[in-house]
Amino acid sequence: MPRVLLLFPRLNNFVFFGVYEPLVLEILSAIAKEESCEVELIDLREHPLPFFDEIASNRWMPSRNPEAIRWQQTIGRFDGFIFVVAEYNHSITSALKNALDQSYKEWNRKPFTAIGYGGVGAARAIEHLRQIAIELQMVSTHASVNIGGGDYMAVHPMFGKKPIEDIEANLLPATKTALDDLAWWARATMAARAAEAA
Ligand SMILES: Cc1cc2nc3c(=O)[nH]c(=O)nc-3n(C[C@H](O)[C@H](O)[C@H](O)COP(=O)(O)O)c2cc1C
Repeated sequence: MPRVLLLFPRLNNFVFFGVYEPLVLEILSAIAKEESCEVELIDLREHPLPFFDEIASNRWMPSRNPEAIRWQQTIGRFDGFIFVVAEYNHSITSALKNALDQSYKEWNRKPFTAIGYGGVGAARAIEHLRQIAIELQMVSTHASVNIGGGDYMAVHPMFGKKPIEDIEANLLPATKTALDDLAWWARATMAARAAEAA
């Protein structure tokens, strides 16, 4: 059964994702049951990584920082990833980039999808994430979840203040497609990695 990590790279208080989190977890756990995958949530604050301070990535030499090593071990336990993406200056946040940089081998030949939010549903940041992931030898799902413009403002706790359930119907189809896609790639790459290791 594929094990999927939902990575929640809290940078600040995640004002928006804070309200969306219970709904996303409910939707994801229902879909994961249908897809026979296990989804585990990790808040990056459980992994207090320094800014990258190694000589090279662990593609070339073992890392020295104990937190980096613990992070690599965590990533190594999973077969696929769902990144929660807030858009900062049209890219991913520095917290997510640092978390990606701190591991190499453990990301390789594994799939990911993304749940983004912001002006254009973090679409620009997710495209950037896809470019970064090529170097990490990951495979991106075609689909992603983009909570954009109107929906984002409608339920934002500082602006529209509407209940999150108001946008649930808009999110469900994209979340289902993204997770279907992720589960397919997770099973395919797990089988391929196992065949290669045999
Ligand atoms: C430095 C900075 C840059 C930002 N750049 C963008 C951006 O390029 N596009 C966008 O849609 N939102 C941008 N935002 C808004 C954040 O995506 C927004 O505040 C988001 O809701 C942060 O997540 P949170 O509300 O869960 O804390 C930016 C915010 C900050 C602080």
